[in-house]
Amino acid sequence: MFAVISDIHSNIEALTAVLGDIERRGIKTIYCLGDVVGYGPNPGECLDLIIEKTKWCVLGNHDYAALYEPTNFNYGAEQASFWTRFSLEAEQETQRRSRRWSFLGTLPMRRTLRIKLGGVNAAIIDFAHASPRKPINEYIFPDDVYTNPLKVRVLFERVRHICFVGHTHLPGVFLDEPDFYLPDELGDVYPIIDSEKAIINIGSVGQPRDDDNRSSYVYVDGNEVHFARLKYDFETTAKKIEAIEQLDNFHAERLRDGR
Ligand SMILES: [Fe+2]
Repeated sequence: MFAVISDIHSNIEALTAVLGDIERRGIKTIYCLGDVVGYGPNPGECLDLIIEKTKWCVLGNHDYAALYEPTNFNYGAEQASFWTRFSLEAEQETQRRSRRWSFLGTLPMRRTLRIKLGGVNAAIIDFAHASPRKPINEYIFPDDVYTNPLKVRVLFERVRHICFVGHTHLPGVFLDEPDFYLPDELGDVYPIIDSEKAIINIGSVGQPRDDDNRSSYVYVDGNEVHFARLKYDFETTAKKIEAIEQLDNFHAERLRDGR
């Protein structure tokens, strides 16, 4: 069994809740799809936990922004990334500060697992923050299936079997027809089979945007990908955001609404 988490966005309350849930399920292996930082009030603490608890992590666009520069960010997101950098730089303990920066600075863009699942399937699973084509920045929205089916088909040419992504904060499964299924429509389970390609968006731990304010992540048990949702104390996170002048209050409001 393993769990996949993504888009923590400096939300330590959500991350702590999700890690606790994963531990309760007895899952020891956790992979992370990036955007550990950005938007939220606890970048350093989230990095420390991700370093400690996950097997590996790939680079997200907000991690890239804190490290290098924000690209195509709106004003609020850009301000948040500058504040994130400031906050990480303000850490007084040299060792901790440099461990966080060197973790960010060595994140890979992609990872691949070749794995036997449920003793039956030999799966090739790719992991990227955003898309199999442009792993850091490309958005794959559920609507693309209807408004831009060619884009989705071209993306699937880059998928060998299964690709886990985050980035849009909208969980669900893309098939190569193309088609998109919400977790609800699948009874929260997608079975990986040899003969079907899928791009699986696992949703966001720290800033869900599908009108459900609970944290989202997945765990894989046998050949089944389970979509999990979890309540966390978003009010505490929201209040911390509101108390930091450089962080737009909208980032707090959206946590309450899950948008
Ligand atoms: Fe994100």
